[in-house]
Amino acid sequence: MSFRIAGTGSCLPEQVVENEAFCGFVDTSDEWIVSRTGMRRRHFVKEETMRDLVYTAASRALEDAGCKASELDYILCSTIQGDYITPSLACLLQADLGANCPAMDINAACSGFLYALDAAAAQFAAKKAKTILVVGAEQLSKFLDWSDRNTCVLFGDGAGAVVLTEGEGLLSIRLGSYGQMESLNIPGSSSPGPFSDFKRPASYIHMNGQEIFKFAVSAIQREIRTVTAETGITPEEVDYFLLHQANGRIIESARNRMKQPKEKFPTNYEECGNTSSASIPLLLDSLNTANRLKNGDILLMSAFGGGLTTGTCLLKW
Ligand code: ACO
Repeated sequence: MSFRIAGTGSCLPEQVVENEAFCGFVDTSDEWIVSRTGMRRRHFVKEETMRDLVYTAASRALEDAGCKASELDYILCSTIQGDYITPSLACLLQADLGANCPAMDINAACSGFLYALDAAAAQFAAKKAKTILVVGAEQLSKFLDWSDRNTCVLFGDGAGAVVLTEGEGLLSIRLGSYGQMESLNIPGSSSPGPFSDFKRPASYIHMNGQEIFKFAVSAIQREIRTVTAETGITPEEVDYFLLHQANGRIIESARNRMKQPKEKFPTNYEECGNTSSASIPLLLDSLNTANRLKNGDILLMSAFGGGLTTGTCLLKW
């Protein structure tokens, strides 16, 4: 038994930050950001917490699915880090929704939503769940070095959620890990103590953009080729490619390689920046709320991110 997506929801912070706003503290320009990334603005939390974002996104997904929180058998949140290291974001969401089920966070950076879908698929396959809530939520603004123009302009905050129920929607899912920290890392902080020599590093994103760019272009193409070959579904038969929204040029390169029309590649990087593991569920919710998805549509989701990690799945709407 696999799953189908029964409902979607999302929530973006109210504050919108335009490209020009960065010019006050780093040497950059709207022209550079748009031409190198396609991004125009992004949402950053001001007063909201991640807990607020996931509660709203999850409540909307439950409402769309016509499902009560009491019916949930599991809550999975993909996030690099919630508001607290513990309790997990998923546990706080479980309390806020009044759900009575296990809840945990999964960190696979930008690929996290696919990792969470895979963990959910295992619960369905083991017949341990009939209804699962999966949320992708990130507040990357808390890890930005505002003096580093290479990274601070690229990211945004937000949350997207799906309710999964038993069904035959999942056609294929593939994950990959290629552990290395040179091209992308966020150091963990540690408390100084009398018995350790730990220095407390700043938890900033460090990224070699060109390395990640090369990794992303080749990984997305390889993974898409593999899932389509495995399932016998051709790129022509895919209705929408929901790719991680890290850079418009990465998406364009995948699209050119597959020779598929632009309408099949919805985007949100222009308005949201790179929202890490929230980017794909945010895209999915905007397609759903715009009534652009029909029963039986084939969706291909593919992401890459810190770890390094990849995740790709084919599913039927
Ligand atoms: N404004 C102006 N100039 C800038 C900026 C900026 N915001 N950022 C970098 N530059 C400069 C660089 O300093 C460099 O200047 P130099 O030639 O004088 O040294 C020049 O622009 C070119 O820099 P590149 O790094 O070569 O620019 P590139 O075209 O590769 O674009 C980018 C950089 C946008 C980061 C791109 O490499 C990219 O998108 N990489 C992928 C990032 C990604 O996908 N991350 C996802 C994973 S994140 C996660 O998992 C949390």
